[in-house]
Amino acid sequence: MAQGVSQRNMTPPSNQFQTHSSEETTDLGRQLAAELKPGSVVLLRGDLGAGKTTLVKGIAEGFSAAEAEAVTSPTFTLIHEYSGPEVTLYHIDLYRIDTQRELDTLALDDLMEPNTILLIEWGEKFERFAKERDFEIAIEHHGADERQITFLRKT
Ligand SMILES: Nc1ncnc2c1ncn2[C@@H]1O[C@H](COP(=O)(O)OP(=O)(O)OP(=O)(O)O)[C@@H](O)[C@H]1O
Ligand SMILES: [Mg+2]
Repeated sequence: MAQGVSQRNMTPPSNQFQTHSSEETTDLGRQLAAELKPGSVVLLRGDLGAGKTTLVKGIAEGFSAAEAEAVTSPTFTLIHEYSGPEVTLYHIDLYRIDTQRELDTLALDDLMEPNTILLIEWGEKFERFAKERDFEIAIEHHGADERQITFLRKT
């Protein structure tokens, strides 16, 4: 498991999955979408290239918000929006955001609505999201194409 943020107030890591290809990770994202509640913040944790964005491809399909191919990394644009019939997803990448001031300019509070879900990569850099997350999905490299994926929800 990625280290750094404590998992107090989160379920124990009972929801663990292994995937062996990016396709399997996208499939898992489709399934996990059913577990995510509108109005929540989801932290996606894992090293560069772990598969966070790959998982979002499946989550977006699970919400009928976008086709997997249409979901790309918001590395430079920082926020991508995908609207489904019931839920709007905001896929956010904070890798390049280092200061509170930079974070403030993104006005993420304005995106938090009862019918939105924020999927945040590198959100654990900020204490606020480490605390506020409703769900956390941690991805660990286990060999070339193998990943261990842990799904946690706030208790
Ligand atoms: N089992 C797997 N699950 C997910 N991705 C895999 C898997 N096996 C190989 N890959 C490859 O690993 C890479 C994952 O890239 P992805 O952009 O999803 O990572 P990321 O965690 O979002 O990284 P970053 O922090 O740079 O945004 C892709 O090239 C993907 O094809
Ligand atoms: Mg990414």
